[in-house]
Amino acid sequence: MARTPADAVDREIESWLGKICQALDLDRSAVYERDAPGEPVRTTHTWLRANSPPFPRNYDPGKIIQKTTNWVMAGNQLTFSRPSNIPAELADARRFVERYGPKASAVIPMWAGGRVIGAASFGKFRSAREWPPEVLDHLALAVRLFAGAIERKQSVTAIYAARAELRVASRRNLMSELVASLSHEINQPLGAILSNLGGLARLLGQGNPEPAMAVEAVNNAIEDTKRTAEIVRRIRSMFKNHVEHKTAIDIGALVNEVVKLTAGEAAMRKTSVQVEVSPSVPRVIGDSIELQQCVLNLLMNAFDAIAEAKSDRRAVTIKVAPEKAGWVGVSVSDSGAGVDPAVANRMFEPFVTTKSKGMGLGLLVTRSIVESHGGAIWSTPNPGRGATFTFTLPVAEKKRSRASGRAG
Ligand SMILES: Nc1ncnc2c1ncn2[C@@H]1O[C@H](COP(=O)(O)OP(=O)(O)O)[C@@H](O)[C@H]1O
Ligand SMILES: [Mg+2]
Repeated sequence: MARTPADAVDREIESWLGKICQALDLDRSAVYERDAPGEPVRTTHTWLRANSPPFPRNYDPGKIIQKTTNWVMAGNQLTFSRPSNIPAELADARRFVERYGPKASAVIPMWAGGRVIGAASFGKFRSAREWPPEVLDHLALAVRLFAGAIERKQSVTAIYAARAELRVASRRNLMSELVASLSHEINQPLGAILSNLGGLARLLGQGNPEPAMAVEAVNNAIEDTKRTAEIVRRIRSMFKNHVEHKTAIDIGALVNEVVKLTAGEAAMRKTSVQVEVSPSVPRVIGDSIELQQCVLNLLMNAFDAIAEAKSDRRAVTIKVAPEKAGWVGVSVSDSGAGVDPAVANRMFEPFVTTKSKGMGLGLLVTRSIVESHGGAIWSTPNPGRGATFTFTLPVAEKKRSRASGRAG
């Protein structure tokens, strides 16, 4: 179970619930998960012996036996060998058991990373049953293994979600750059409108000697105006869900987050990534999704530079440290071959790339984000080998950082 890949965890747990019930002669076993404290408890896995007494369909413990559920999710184990053993204060569990069986049950909270992420229940419906300590120990061990696997599954799911978010952000920034090129699409119909209206003005100035021509000029202008409006509408719909959201950000944590997200990529490229956050770094003001994008772009370029250089030193270092007063610098250093002099002073321009599959937009997007935050970005050759790309971000004001619960 400890080696089960994340996407096979659910199947594996279900099969183990069945095996455990068969081995211990039980009738129903289930796993319940809760994503976070305060969130609802969901039934995620069940095994039920054929011909077992009926159990409520869509059984929702958080609703049907709320008190008992809360008690278990607070980390308490509930075992009873016969219904009369259920503690009197768990009256809802008593009522439930009277109505639906089980005659004996063990409900074990599922701990992971110091919190309860769910519970597992093992019940016997046909008769009472004792729960000797060895049996409970074994069940507890199984539940610990489930918890570890579920936690792994959840963290992989969270990484997928974060990746998808990064992808969306990258597409969005790409679009913001493409707007520049779309503006010529708008200028073209605007020019046509202008010339049609100019012609119309002349005709009217001459007492409108050719009414048909005047009508045509007006109709042309109407069509071109519609076309322009359509272009504007298209651009706006592209950005519909781009709501820039700047907050005070722990930039060191953000860098670590991106490095975590790209750990797979780094491993594949056999490249080590080291993060050095100087202890005195204050929070910065920024849009975390956009800033993740910046770090990601520079990190990917560093990976590419190292791959291209085919060197045996394959290391990237990301440093986060205060720059001049009021600014924080983030620098990404690689052990590649350095920037090709042929592109050195054009690499921030659109579509400038030295890579066969490059888009030549990464640095442009990064710079546009950094500048929209008020910062700057530049590159310097490393003394040894490779290049360092550094960008700066403004420090969050004292007022803001206090409001977010952190002084200074
Ligand atoms: N870390 C780096 N080391 C060397 N050259 C780099 C580095 N980062 C960027 N470059 C150069 O700048 C160019 C543009 O980068 P970028 O805008 O990210 O586009 P792309 O990565 O698609 O080529 C790259 O093709 C490369 O020549
Ligand atoms: Mg790039």
